[in-house]
Amino acid sequence: MTENYKAINWNAIDDQIDKATWEKLTEQFWLDTRIPLSNDLSDWRTLDQDHQWVVGHVFGGLTLLDTLQSQEGMASLRKDVQTPHETAVLNNIQFMESVHAKSYSSIFSTLNTPEQIDEIFDWSDTEEFLQNKALKIRDIYENNPDPLKKKIASVFLETFLFYSGFYTPLWYLGHNKIPNVAEIIKLILRDESVHGTYIGYKFQIGFNQLPKTKQEDLKNWLYDLLYKLYANEEKYTHLLYDQTGWTDDVLVFIRYNANKALMNLGQDPLFPDTAEDVNPVVMNGISTSTANHDFFSQVGNGYLLGNVESMSDSDYDI
Ligand SMILES: [Fe+2]
Ligand SMILES: [Fe+2]
Repeated sequence: MTENYKAINWNAIDDQIDKATWEKLTEQFWLDTRIPLSNDLSDWRTLDQDHQWVVGHVFGGLTLLDTLQSQEGMASLRKDVQTPHETAVLNNIQFMESVHAKSYSSIFSTLNTPEQIDEIFDWSDTEEFLQNKALKIRDIYENNPDPLKKKIASVFLETFLFYSGFYTPLWYLGHNKIPNVAEIIKLILRDESVHGTYIGYKFQIGFNQLPKTKQEDLKNWLYDLLYKLYANEEKYTHLLYDQTGWTDDVLVFIRYNANKALMNLGQDPLFPDTAEDVNPVVMNGISTSTANHDFFSQVGNGYLLGNVESMSDSDYDI
């Protein structure tokens, strides 16, 4: 006999973290179209060609990763949910990944010529080190049957692999340049922070139920994957940043974020780098709270977006 189909009941919550995350994510909902990107054009014109190249191509790389999260990532994680509310949260995340992927195109259409945009997409669709990381993560999503390994891949992507790209707009924000472009990146970063914490939390539930030997096996797999991704990320960082002289600085930043990804998964840090080692200008860019864009007041109805702040561990004290 077939089992009955069940309606989702938000008045009977199995895991309060599902509800808290849903509320956090819906409260911080945003759209790229609300950010006045064209205000950055005068700053943009002061950048030399090398720096404009870096900005365009880090965003090409980020577009590819957000495309992967929106098209394969969340659909793959949704097969392993433990609660119906987890499905709802992943649905929200999946839609926001599409918003993220689209928002880079808004940036391109503001700053770049059609020829430049075509070149950026040709680059992101073929560049070896960028493709390496996207294909490695996609392979786990599509072909690895282990729900915990898929969650590891997702957390590594969101809390580690994005950061070679996030460095650039944060550096400019710290120098008071292209602040609206940076604002979009900060909104994306704020979402990724919740995604990484939530999926890492769901990973830890499953991990803690494993016998010790299986935990050790999974740890070995996880650190091995991180080493491989880091080795590739080093090459990707050189490719992007050698022409600006920022490479060493970016590598510190990505090692710091690799440790944060491990923390989301409840694992020990791998690298010695801490927040104190990261370029303070970039840390400053991260810590500034997101500006409150009074978009609708520009058309006269005085609507204000809600005040939102970054996720912290205390948000999970329920
Ligand atoms: Fe994203
Ligand atoms: Fe995400």
